[in-house]
Formats: sequence, structure tokens, C-alpha cells
Amino acid sequence: MAEPLGSLVRTHTCGALRPADVGTDVVLLGWVHRIRDLGGVTFIDVRDRHGISQVVVRENVALMAVAKRLRSEFVVGVSGHVQRRSADTVNPKLATGEVEVLAAEIRILNEAKTPPFQIAEDGPVSEDVRLRYRYLDLRRPRLQNNIGLRHRVSIAIRKYFDEQGFWEIETPILAKSTPEGARDFLVPSRVHPGEFYALPQSPQLFKQILMIAGTDRYFQIVRCFRDEDQRADRQLEFTQVDVEMSFAQPESIYNLIEPLMPRIFKEIGREVTLPIRRMSYADAIAKYGSDKPDLRCGMEIADLSDVFRDSEFRVFKQIVADGGVVRGFSVPGGNKYSRSQLDVLVDQAKQMGFTGLIWVRPGSPPLCSVKALSEAALRPALDRVKAATDDLLLMAAGPADNTSKLLGQLRLAVAAKENLLNPEAFEFLWVTDFPLLEYHEEDGRWYSMHHPFTSPKDEDVDKLETEPGAVRAKAYDLVLNGSEIGGGSIRIHDAALQSRIFTRLGISEEEAKLRFGFFLEALEYGTPPHGGIALGLDRIVAILAGESSIREVIAFPKTASAVDLMAGAPSPVDAKQLRELHLNLKTQKPN
Ligand code: AMO
Repeated sequence: MAEPLGSLVRTHTCGALRPADVGTDVVLLGWVHRIRDLGGVTFIDVRDRHGISQVVVRENVALMAVAKRLRSEFVVGVSGHVQRRSADTVNPKLATGEVEVLAAEIRILNEAKTPPFQIAEDGPVSEDVRLRYRYLDLRRPRLQNNIGLRHRVSIAIRKYFDEQGFWEIETPILAKSTPEGARDFLVPSRVHPGEFYALPQSPQLFKQILMIAGTDRYFQIVRCFRDEDQRADRQLEFTQVDVEMSFAQPESIYNLIEPLMPRIFKEIGREVTLPIRRMSYADAIAKYGSDKPDLRCGMEIADLSDVFRDSEFRVFKQIVADGGVVRGFSVPGGNKYSRSQLDVLVDQAKQMGFTGLIWVRPGSPPLCSVKALSEAALRPALDRVKAATDDLLLMAAGPADNTSKLLGQLRLAVAAKENLLNPEAFEFLWVTDFPLLEYHEEDGRWYSMHHPFTSPKDEDVDKLETEPGAVRAKAYDLVLNGSEIGGGSIRIHDAALQSRIFTRLGISEEEAKLRFGFFLEALEYGTPPHGGIALGLDRIVAILAGESSIREVIAFPKTASAVDLMAGAPSPVDAKQLRELHLNLKTQKPN
């Protein structure tokens, strides 16, 4: 039975007691973490968010009886006297490990059912069970640490932007759909039958309007909603550190964001070396086959086309003659692979989509999977990728981007297999100069690579109509260990250029007006040049916490199939609610 808290007032948290407190009377409130009943004496570890304190019950018959009723996760209030532990019972692993509380009273404030998994142990539990009982999972050290870290990172970010003169401004959650490439979540309006709000995919247009409104510097730690497939680094609702600044160039954004990184990494006691490297999108694709290269593992892809232009190996020669490329990279220590391991690698490459993967073992003479290739041809290729005798050269040929992308995938697979992705290393990178537009074969039209408000580079504007694929954007991503942790751009502030972009995207004036007329109108009232960025807070905290999924740093995440297993969302609603919202369902799920 639960007893009232009554006059019990907490004097210390369960993590606070130290030798200096010996001799004082204290009141602790928390959960029963562990109980050890040694006959004449019972030890009870009492836990709260701050730590664990040992409570002792000894020579007190009434208290012994209460202690006997205690089970794991009961909520208790303990008053007692702090004493030093005997030398043999000191626990150096606990901050409170030198002292204990000799109990004078134990009040059972609430009982608890037996939890479906151990709170005291961080042992393996299926993720579904953890998510179903998230409140219990959140009591465990792993999530306590992660959620605490997330809090501290958020505070550090807020402090930093405040110091830099940014205002945190809330933008609407019931908003109008703005295009960021994913599907919108829609909210039906009761008052306006047949009309919908959209949950923001990001506050993009609102933050730009704040610049038009003269806010000058805006930031917001903000929830964004995107109806897209879930992955380890994607949730339906996630949190951005959203930033916008007037009179900004890309350089202003780099200079703003870079010093923030050491401030954030200080929370895990790590340093960040500045400045952060930069690489153009074109280079990132060519050298790493990815617009978010993981730089922890070297293995840069080199172009070998010139080496094989006149090759005796007809396949290479033909591909290069047809405008394709031969590219490759060196696997450190890869010479150790046996023939059968190499066969597995070649098979794996085929499954990834390679038409062929060619390997070369350095040596005199080099040994290559293609007999037709002579030492004279292989030597310059091995030199180009800087392959040492222990290494292995992997090569493929085909269209430029595709070849690099495949080699990039293979590079990451090899890096993972060889444990080359040091979890203790943090490699930041700015990827710059993204293409403004990308062509989609399916519907034969151009789409914005980022969003339609991204500014083209001044020197490329003239190519908008003639060579749209060659127009680069003033857009940048911040990449950390192969994960895109932020993205942004300088925006278009000129209404005429904005309509030119819409035309290029095949969006009619009418449609543009319908979708973002409010914004286009605002653009005509004195818009300053401006730009910004949004950082993915969940991804950053996951990397800091050493977690491979952002679910581990979100208090109440959804599963991979977009379900909240604890609350049971999504769920059917009753007919009355639907009627009020003027909705008629084609298929009705039982409530
Ligand atoms: P973008 O779409 O690149 O840019 O998003 C910015 C950052 O948000 C994170 N992110 C996500 N994190 C978890 N789950 C998701 N589903 C998800 N989607 C994105 C990523 C990404 O880098 N309005 C622009 C920003 C701007 O131009 O200023 C935007 O939203 O870390």
C-alpha cells in the first residue's frame, strides 16, 4: 500500500552524499535499485536520476519488516543518519561509495509491478519491449546519460546563439505546406471544412520571412515533421537547430557554426580542431563516391582513366574511349586477403551493382585478377593510389559518377569489415557547391536539389536556362563521420530570380502563388540578402553518445514502422471526431 509523502522533505539527491556529510541526518527519495538481505542486516540501494546511495537497515525489527516488503522499483522515502562505510565495504565505483545511510524510517511511497526487464542492469532487451515500456527504459543508465547529454548540448547551443546575438523565435506548428522534398503531415481544419494545415518539414519560409521582418539573427531548436521512411538516422519528427542570418555569405555561416562544434563536443570532454575542412560536392563524389564522405578511413578514390586510355585490356580502353572512367582505391593491408576472400569481395561488389571489380596485389610483378593487364600498365595505377606492398588496389570502370558511387559503397563496406572507422575519431567536413538542380528521368523535369529558395552561385546564374545541370548552388552540408549533421544555403532574395527558378522547375506562376504566394509577396518588400543552416540535433547527439540510431537519444521515438509502441499511436479516432473534421474514411479500422 502506498504511504503519503507527508512531512518527508528531500535533503539530498541519491548522488549527493559524501564523507563530509557523515554525522548528519538526511532524507532521500527514490527507487529501490537493489536489495541485499544478509540476515541481520539489509542493504538497500536507493536510486534517482542523480545517483545511488546505500541505505542500511540493522538492529531495528520494525524497519526489518518494512525492508522485507521492498521489491525492485518500489518508490521509497528514507530518513536516516549518514555514516562512513567500513573500509571493506567502500564502493569506489559510486560517487557516494564511501558513505551509507543508517535508516531510521523507510516509507513505501509506492509499490511497483515486477518490471519486464532489469533496470539495474544494462543487459540486452528487445527494442520493442524497451519502446513499449519506455518509462522503464528511461530509468536505465544508458538513456539517462543520453537524455542528460542531449539536455546539456541543447543548453550549450542556446547559450552560444544568445551570445552571438541570435533571438530564439517560435514559428507555427500548424503551418502551410512548404516543400522540402518529403511528404507532409496534414491536419484537417474543423472550422474550415476541406482545408488542412501542414506540420512544418522545417521552418524554412518563416525564418526567411523573419529576415524580411528585420530580425537579423534567428535561431530555434525546433521540431520538424516529415512523412518519409524511417531509418536509423531518420524519424518522422526530429529536431533541428534552425538558424538564419541577414547579410550572410557562405563564409559567415561557416564562421558562425564552426566555433559551436568545440562547445558541443566539450560536453563529452573532446576537442575539435578548427577550421573544418572543405570539399566541393564534385570532389566528394569523385573521391569518395558520396556527398557525405566518411574521412576516418582514408582510401581516397583516384582516377586512373589516363593510365588505361591505351590499355591492352580492351574493356578499360573502350570504356575510356566512350567517355567513361577507370577509378580505384587502395585497401590498407588488403594484400593479406586470400583468393577465396577476394572472390567473396568480387561477389559482394556484383551484388552492389558493379559490372566487374578488378583487384591488384602490389609486388614484383603485381598480381591482377585480369591477366591481360601487364606490369607496365599496373605500376602507374598502383603508384597513383599510393599502394604499399601490403595493400590491395581495387578498380572498376564505367560512367564517372556511378563508378565512384559504387567504389564509395565498397570503400565503406571494406572500412567496416576492417574496423577502420574509429568510433573515437571525429572527422568534420563542409561539402560545398552542390548542384542547384537535379534532373528526374521519370517525369522529365528538373527538381531543386535542396529547396527552391536556394541561391545559385553568381557566376553560374547565366547557365540556368542553357545548362541547368551545371549550375552550382550557394549550398553546403556539414558532415561528421559520414553522417549529414547539417545543411543550408544562401537564399534567393530577389523576387525576379525566384520566379526564374520556379519557371526552371516547371512551377507555373499560378501554382507558385497558390503554394507560397505569401512568401513571394513578402520578398518584394525589401528583402535583405540572407542565408542559414539547420543542424540535425538528434544526429549530433547520437554521434556524441556513440549510438548508431537516433532513437537512443530521443525520449519517445517511433519504431522503424512509424509507431509509438508506448502510447499506441497512430490509432483510430471515433466517428464524432471524424464528422467534426468533415472527414469520411474509405476504410474504417475498429476503435
Ligand atoms: P535539411 O532537410 O538538410 O535542411 O535538414 C537539416 C538537417 O536535419 C537533419 N534531418 C533529420 N534528422 C532526423 N530525421 C530526419 N527525418 C531528418 N531530416 C533531416 C539532418 C539534416 O542535415 N530548411 C533546410 C535548412 C536550411 O536550408 O537552412 C532543411 O531542413 O541532419
